[in-house]
Amino acid sequence: MNATETAVTSTEPQAGGVILHPARGKVIAITSGKGGVGKTFLSANLAAALTRRGLRVLVLDADLGLANLDVVLNLYPKLTLHDVFTGKCTLQEAIVAAPGGFSVLLAGSGMVEYSRLTPEVRDEFLRLMAEVVPRYDVVLLDTGAGISDVVLFALSLASEVLLVATPEPTSLTDAYATIKVLATQQQRDRIRLVVNQAARPGDGRVITQQLQTVLNRFVSPGQGAGVRLLHMGDIPVDPAVKEAVMRRQLLLVHTPGCPAALAVGQIAGRLVDTVLRAHTQA
Ligand SMILES: Nc1ncnc2c1ncn2[C@@H]1O[C@H](COP(=O)(O)OP(=O)(O)OP(=O)(O)O)[C@@H](O)[C@H]1O
Ligand SMILES: [Mg+2]
Repeated sequence: MNATETAVTSTEPQAGGVILHPARGKVIAITSGKGGVGKTFLSANLAAALTRRGLRVLVLDADLGLANLDVVLNLYPKLTLHDVFTGKCTLQEAIVAAPGGFSVLLAGSGMVEYSRLTPEVRDEFLRLMAEVVPRYDVVLLDTGAGISDVVLFALSLASEVLLVATPEPTSLTDAYATIKVLATQQQRDRIRLVVNQAARPGDGRVITQQLQTVLNRFVSPGQGAGVRLLHMGDIPVDPAVKEAVMRRQLLLVHTPGCPAALAVGQIAGRLVDTVLRAHTQA
């Protein structure tokens, strides 16, 4: 059982008299080994795509310290996670509506006090997750890159990890390092992979196989079961992505028919089929 499941179960009975089902919320962390590979772009657009499929989605800016989800979504948050943590506002007040119809909880940038995982940050985060997870079908955590203790803590809260990598050798080496830590320290036996900025169709499948081969040789979580990489799709290099970011718009709104937007839609579909199906049927 991971930290979120523990936290959620502990608040299971009710909120405002409504019985909450602890299994309702799925937490999917979007992470990467190397920085700047497209996590925030994917988090925001995946949230929009999942919302279109009828799910209640919250994106939580878990890149504490260097948050920039607000920039991508063109939001100017008055209240952030910081204000929730310090008791200046309620959680409900800090959750805002994003252009794609989903909810966001922004972290605010430059919060040095949250770039380190102190017991206070840990406890506040656990409390927060226990409150939000049961209220949504899916909570996406847009994490920072790498394997710092804050990132690893955020990943420990997730039922599924969606790792973003580009075909660059540096990105793949860092992706391998992340998978290795998740398998050995968090006993993850499956990790979902998205290859972003793919140059050719089929890149992602080949990369997944190559990484899997190395993992089979060198990494085993706990009792030798091995870690399985699940390829969730590729997103091609697409100039429309940069244009949308420059205009601070969702790609799915700016250029819904472009190759990268279609690819994000397909990944959303696969997530629904493999991770979220029970929720859409419920
Ligand atoms: N498929 C793509 N095609 C073209 N450009 C892309 C693509 N994906 C991402 N980019 C470019 O990469 C930039 C960085 O993306 P993003 O901010 O989402 O990365 P990140 O992984 O969240 O970075 P950080 O590690 O700093 O949080 C985008 O602003 C965009 O210009
Ligand atoms: Mg980011």
